[in-house]
Amino acid sequence: MSTTVAKQLPWWLSPTMVGVGFAAFVVYATWVIFLGAHYEYKNYLSPFYSPLILIPNFPLSPAILVTWIPLGFRATCYYYRKAYYRSFFWDPPACAIGELRGERYNGETKFPFILQNIHRYFFYGAIFIWIVLAVDTVKAFLFDGHLGMGLGSLIFLINIVLLGLYTFSCHSWRHLIGGNIDCFSCSRATKMRHGIWERVSVLNQNHMLWAWTSLFSVSLTDVYVRLLAMGIIPADLRFF
Ligand code: FES
Repeated sequence: MSTTVAKQLPWWLSPTMVGVGFAAFVVYATWVIFLGAHYEYKNYLSPFYSPLILIPNFPLSPAILVTWIPLGFRATCYYYRKAYYRSFFWDPPACAIGELRGERYNGETKFPFILQNIHRYFFYGAIFIWIVLAVDTVKAFLFDGHLGMGLGSLIFLINIVLLGLYTFSCHSWRHLIGGNIDCFSCSRATKMRHGIWERVSVLNQNHMLWAWTSLFSVSLTDVYVRLLAMGIIPADLRFF
């Protein structure tokens, strides 16, 4: 979409579309997490259920034990915060639009939104989940101990790449790499950190893109595994 066309669109269109997209994901994810079934098909495991923690006599879905980490990571993400503040709270609703609820604005300085600062800790958890999902992706290419590739393998691969781009374009990660340094050129170690920081900054510029595409790929991966597990898709399409 060109900038000129974007400027001609009403300001409320973007937050409304974002709100619809979020609402669709929240409804789907809630259903998947609480269902507790159809999350596995042969060597494919739904990313909502990984790592799979099965506790005997645990009355709830095993997804509840793990999904709080990636969902907490997304809920406190700088981009998502901006997006859902606009879409759901209309506070502020968009760029260059005045406050709809008067002048008082506490932002994230008070409870409960001050808790958003926990994001950097969710980032550590998200790295752990990403490593687990990377192992799942390797397993998605192993069929009875032999290397192979199905449509599911490809979907898992695309998903882990997009999740990696999203996770490692995180603002907290960028700060961790390049923050708290007064001089980048003063030592070999700080020069190396500067080089990594520059690369992370390039990823970071498209953080919104990775946020949306990875949200879609996680859902798509679950849908594919689920349809196979339910027998709606009779078999995985195998390339070799
Ligand atoms: S800022 Fe979005 S994941 Fe950290």
